[in-house]
This record gives sequence, structure tokens and C-alpha cells, in this order.
Amino acid sequence: MSQNTAPIPVIIDTDPGIDDAMAIHYASAHPDIELVGLTTVFGNVFVEQATRNALFLKEQTCDSFDVVHGADAPLEMPLNPPSHYVHGDEGLGDMPAPKVSLPADSRDTSQYIYDICSARPGEVVLCPVGPLTNIARLVREKPDIVSLVKRVVIMGGAVWADGNVTPHAEANIWNDPHAADIVFSADWEIDLIGLDVTQKITCTQADFDMLASHAPEIGGFLAQISEFYIKFYHSVQNRYVCVMHDPTALVAITNRTLFTFKKAPLSVTLSGEKMGNSHAASDSGRRAVNVCIDADVDAVRKRFLDICALADKIRAERRA
Ligand code: BDR
Ligand code: CA
Repeated sequence: MSQNTAPIPVIIDTDPGIDDAMAIHYASAHPDIELVGLTTVFGNVFVEQATRNALFLKEQTCDSFDVVHGADAPLEMPLNPPSHYVHGDEGLGDMPAPKVSLPADSRDTSQYIYDICSARPGEVVLCPVGPLTNIARLVREKPDIVSLVKRVVIMGGAVWADGNVTPHAEANIWNDPHAADIVFSADWEIDLIGLDVTQKITCTQADFDMLASHAPEIGGFLAQISEFYIKFYHSVQNRYVCVMHDPTALVAITNRTLFTFKKAPLSVTLSGEKMGNSHAASDSGRRAVNVCIDADVDAVRKRFLDICALADKIRAERRA
């Protein structure tokens, strides 16, 4: 941990999901992060699967964070089919549905996030790495949340880069464009970690094998689920890599100086061929978003691997 610095309280809004699982393990193992809670959302999987997977990850870590069940469908559009071809039928590669014994928190996600943030005004970082439905509802239902959170660090969007679901749209924005537009229109500090940067941050199977040698249980699990993800990327991009979308957003919380940002107010296309496109809207009157456009890619990758290599040790300390 950085000397004399308290860990940053973080709530991750998530649809786990292979890269979500990587991000959650990074956050849970990181001495500079206090992982307060996961709020779940549909996206890579149905929300029931997302909540179950979040609880499974909690059991793996022996951490004490909350898991709060969230939105099952977008605000205005019909639900898109889950991305089983990217993340596996149950969201964790080839792994069958995990059995979990811990219960989910029954609180409403808006109330949960609001309660946590109002108890610690100006401290909590909100990190959505799935469709922005829960976060848009939060903005609508609790408008003063914008002055209570420290910062919102979002994995999503493709402002100047191409999309990954359509040529124009990134998956998290595509899955609920109306929600994303509400979140971008709110008056709060946003760092957007989208495809403009995340496509550049990759790990190989050899990286994950190395991780497994340092942390056989949690690193081994990440190595196992990464195989499915690497096969997917090989099928669409012809490269044997795992693109580290969601973990990159977490590294941007702990190591923001590794990233380069360009300020731009953003808007989302809500219909037509370009639906889900997140684009600069200079005359919108909206607060500018810090759009990440580059990073020290080797350093970001190394931060992820170094922290996850500690995961088994941290878990053993929690069990003791
Ligand atoms: C985003 O979409 C999901 O498949 C990933 O988990 C990530 O959050 C990348 O576009
Ligand atoms: Ca995700």
C-alpha cells in the first residue's frame, strides 16, 4: 500500500463475465482498494447468473464485500441475448454453473450505493464495468449522488475507436444506450476507460500461466477462464490474447498516472445504424468526460499481474 494513504473505497457495478472476474480479483487483492460492494447487472450473462458469479467470486476471495442484485433489463430497449460466445454459457468460460452458499443482499442498488456514498461523502469511487442501467437509475432516483461520489470510472464506450459489437458501438453502451446517455449527462467526474485504450491492454496465456504459478488457486482459476476468452479473441481478431477491458478500469483507479486522457462532453446515439455510439458532443452543454486515449500498456499489464499474483496470499491472511 502507498505509505500513509487509506485504501480507496470502491463499488464495482458488474456483469461477471470473464474480464469482470479478473477485475474483481484485482480489486479484492489490492492493498490500495477497499472493495466495498459489487452491484450486479445483466449483460455478459443474465442478472441471476451475474449475481451468482459475483457471490462465487466473493467465496473465492474470502473477502467481506457486499453483493447486491441489480437490473435484469435495459431502461427502454428489449434485453439483448447474453454474450455466451465471449464469456461462456455461465459467464466463466467452460466452467459449469458454480454452486454458492452465500446469499445476495436484498437492498435496491440505488439505495445501496446512495447509503454507502452518503456515509462517506467524496470518498467512494464507483466503477461500472457492465451496462449502465443501475447507474442511470441511481442518477434518476437519487440526483444528489453526483456530489457524493468521488469519481466514476467506467469501462465502456469507443469514442474515437471502432466498436466491438457493431462498427460504432461498444458492448456495455450497446446493451443500454439510454442509460449510458443519462450517466454521461450527469454533473460528476467521469473517467471513461473504453475501447480507445482497453484494446491495447492484453495478456497472453503465458502471462496467466505465470500467474497460476504464483497463486495456484485464484491465479489458476483466472488462467482457466482466460482460455475461453483467448479463444474468442483469436476467432474474431486472429490474435492469441486476452483483452483486459474491465481490469484496465480498476488499474486506472489505483494508477491513474499511467493513463492519458482527453476531455470531451459525450453523447450516445439512441437509435438507427449507429445506436450505442458514444461520441464527443462539444455543443451539448454537458460536463466534459475524461476520455482515456492511451496508457503505458506494459505497466498496466504488469500492475494487473503483480497484484493478482498476491491473491492467494491475501486470501490466506483473511482466513487466518
Ligand atoms: C465490455 O463488454 C463485456 O463483454 C466485458 O465484460 C467488458 O465490460 C467490453 O466491451
Ligand atoms: Ca463487464
